[in-house]
Amino acid sequence: MALRTAGSVLVVFLWSVAVVLGQDGWSVKYTTQSICVLKGSTVELTCSYTYPSGYTVTTTFWFTKYNAVGPVSLSDDPDYKGRVTYRKDKENEHTLTITDLRESDSATYKFRFTDQTGKWRYTGEPGVTLSVTESGLQVKVTGGHQDKTLTCSTTCTLTDNPTYIWYKNGQHLDESTSPQYKDPVSSNYEDSYSCAVKGHEDLHSPAVCVQGQDCNRVSYTKRTICALKGSSVNISCTYFSLYNITSSLWFSPKQSDSWRDELIPEDLTTDPGYAGRVEFVGEKERGQSTVRITDLREEDSAEYKFIFNTQTSRWGHSFPGTTLTVTDLQVKVTPATEAGKRTLTCITTCTLTDNPTYIWYQNGHKVKEDSSSLDSDSFSDADSYSCAVKGHEDLLSPAECQKCWSVTYTHQSICALKGTTVDISCSYTYPSYHEIKKAFWFTKWSGRDPEDLSSVPGYEGHIEYLGDKESDCTLRITDLRLSDSAGYRFRLITSGEMVAGSPVSLTVSDVVLEMDPTSVSERENVTLRCRTNCTLDPITVYSWYKNGQPIPNNNTSSPVYILFSVSSEDTGRYSCSVEGHEDLPSAEETLTVTYGPKNTSVSVSPSGDIVEGSSVTLTCSSDANPPVDKYTWYKKNVTSPKASGQSYSITNISSEDRGEYYCEASNIKGTETSIPVHI
Ligand SMILES: *[C@@H]1O[C@H](CO)[C@@H](O)[C@H](O)[C@H]1NC(C)=O
Ligand SMILES: *[C@@H]1O[C@H](CO)[C@@H](O)[C@H](O)[C@H]1NC(C)=O
Ligand SMILES: *[C@@H]1O[C@H](CO)[C@@H](O)[C@H](O)[C@H]1NC(C)=O
Ligand SMILES: *[C@@H]1O[C@H](CO)[C@@H](O)[C@H](O)[C@H]1NC(C)=O
Ligand SMILES: *[C@@H]1O[C@H](CO)[C@@H](O)[C@H](O)[C@H]1NC(C)=O
Ligand SMILES: *[C@@H]1O[C@H](CO)[C@@H](O)[C@H](O)[C@H]1NC(C)=O
Ligand SMILES: *[C@@H]1O[C@H](CO)[C@@H](O)[C@H](O)[C@H]1NC(C)=O
Ligand SMILES: *[C@@H]1O[C@H](CO)[C@@H](O)[C@H](O)[C@H]1NC(C)=O
Ligand SMILES: *[C@@H]1O[C@H](CO)[C@@H](O)[C@H](O)[C@H]1NC(C)=O
Repeated sequence: MALRTAGSVLVVFLWSVAVVLGQDGWSVKYTTQSICVLKGSTVELTCSYTYPSGYTVTTTFWFTKYNAVGPVSLSDDPDYKGRVTYRKDKENEHTLTITDLRESDSATYKFRFTDQTGKWRYTGEPGVTLSVTESGLQVKVTGGHQDKTLTCSTTCTLTDNPTYIWYKNGQHLDESTSPQYKDPVSSNYEDSYSCAVKGHEDLHSPAVCVQGQDCNRVSYTKRTICALKGSSVNISCTYFSLYNITSSLWFSPKQSDSWRDELIPEDLTTDPGYAGRVEFVGEKERGQSTVRITDLREEDSAEYKFIFNTQTSRWGHSFPGTTLTVTDLQVKVTPATEAGKRTLTCITTCTLTDNPTYIWYQNGHKVKEDSSSLDSDSFSDADSYSCAVKGHEDLLSPAECQKCWSVTYTHQSICALKGTTVDISCSYTYPSYHEIKKAFWFTKWSGRDPEDLSSVPGYEGHIEYLGDKESDCTLRITDLRLSDSAGYRFRLITSGEMVAGSPVSLTVSDVVLEMDPTSVSERENVTLRCRTNCTLDPITVYSWYKNGQPIPNNNTSSPVYILFSVSSEDTGRYSCSVEGHEDLPSAEETLTVTYGPKNTSVSVSPSGDIVEGSSVTLTCSSDANPPVDKYTWYKKNVTSPKASGQSYSITNISSEDRGEYYCEASNIKGTETSIPVHI
């Protein structure tokens, strides 16, 4: 208590000093006095300050609260943990950034600076008043029974004259500078409306029914998700539709380049970039849909949206969805201070959801379970450090060290095409006082020792070590075979010790042509899809072949080729290839087109005049697939069939046999009758 009193007295005393000095060249100027921003958004407060010459400013910070000692810098305030950054763009200028704004951040923010003696302190008055909208944007519906007025409302008036965006049933409708929607809206029971502020579409209002309680609505569980590379994520939404849903799907607008029509979203499960990594969960539970993406990659960072259709309407695809950011972990080391102290920070490109616990490893051993930074005054240059997140210990950051043992690969997992050559690029470091005895690659252990690939049968002439004795350990594998798919590890043996890198996962893939279906009736469509079973560098050109001959194709960027309304001429062997590997096409897939008998005709043997008493043979021929399985012979004006079988012989011919004969050919697809022949 005594201390507190003393502190307050001290503050008051210094303020009075500051005010006096303020007229003497001490000042703080804020670029804005008051600001209203959306909950969830980010704000930047900037000020410039002056002080008399002869002083040196050493401490600068922003604050809203006091403790017993004085103002508390926001960077030390637990309420702002991980959400504030200070920045100095120019001399005597200071910018505060607060992310993910909460309602409780509404306060007056002041800037304070202190000179090197700590005696002279100055606080800029009156500060900046920040108001954070209580509940974000809301659509307010007012007016009579029929024509309603919509207003996009906030609890304070947004600064910066925003542009408002309106959505009707998830579909972009209009943009305006007024928070009121331009026209009265009619009260269709199905319709919902939502609004957003341009540039902050992710902070849109919930969708609101204009009439009644229930209407078309989609609401995402999270607006943003930050997840670790290699981990899995569930993206979910709840939805409601007044009428039965006829179809629904999850998609990512980022993939629109590979859609058949860039305006028609395609289901994520059919996207080759996500092959085997995406599934739907909980779809059966009405009103809730979740898409699960496993083995996350950096290129999965994108927005994900859910849409549905009913008989009469649909949920549009312009409504903002959930934005996923995929990050890896990296250890950053600050330079040692004079006291030899260093700080290691486990950095991510986005703030991981759910405030995870970090785990620190020193030379591969767990040393601490705590926050994302590690302070120490005893780091040795020869130690290596890595970090992980609790629950994902397998997704370790690369080791960081100054002068230690390390093996680093440019790519931790590689997808390559069968028949091509791959370089697994790799570099290593080791203490300079060691001497290298042996450096080699291996995939398997033989007893307690790893087996040097260059002496494994089957690898001779197939691998080449491109590394050197200093830092490069790149391995080249030529003429890749499917069986080369494995985890490749580099091992270094020196005069002192030995070390092995973690495995690089190499997947060797074929080009595969998928044909759906492989057997069709005429006039049906056949879809050919060219795929590889791991993701190669983006493929931009696909080629298609029929019986070994290229098929002219207008659209080479699509992995899908559709044979519309096939006919018997489309029967053949099909294959595909990807850009740069036209010499390595897929295996051929045979298309069978089935059709009923065609061109059914009768031939007569012998031809020419027929003498009474002689014999004649009629043969029926027809083109059909599958081949004709039943031939029936008829004589005109005689209802019952004369015979069956492909040929019909009439022996000891007489005048009664005179007449017109025809055959009927059939298979499972149909029946055709020939033109009659006259005997
Ligand atoms: C996703 O959902 C599944 C089942 O619904 C659950 O088992 C899994 O733990 C969830 N994963 C994440 C990362 O939340
Ligand atoms: C909607 O679906 C329910 C349950 O599947 C069914 O009983 C009902 O007949 C459907 N209504 C319409 C209009 O299709
Ligand atoms: C070609 O296919 C791509 C991807 O399927 C599609 O985006 C594009 O619009 C198509 N172009 C033409 C001319 O059909
Ligand atoms: C084949 O595709 C065309 C164009 O998409 C479509 O109109 C037609 O109905 C399809 N035919 C069959 C048999 O599915
Ligand atoms: C990848 O290729 C191998 C060998 O052809 C095959 O057995 C496997 O099923 C393929 N995997 C996928 C996901 O297509
Ligand atoms: C390519 O497109 C042109 C014009 O759209 C069309 O006339 C031509 O038939 C197309 N060729 C093929 C092979 O689809
Ligand atoms: C019928 O056969 C003739 C001669 O063999 C041929 O030119 C014609 O294309 C065939 N017609 C059909 C529909 O197969
Ligand atoms: C078949 O019958 C019709 C009517 O019954 C008759 O007009 C025709 O001449 C007959 N044809 C032969 C070849 O007998
Ligand atoms: C051929 O037919 C005629 C008259 O129908 C008959 O008399 C004769 O015996 C027949 N010949 C044979 C070899 O069947």
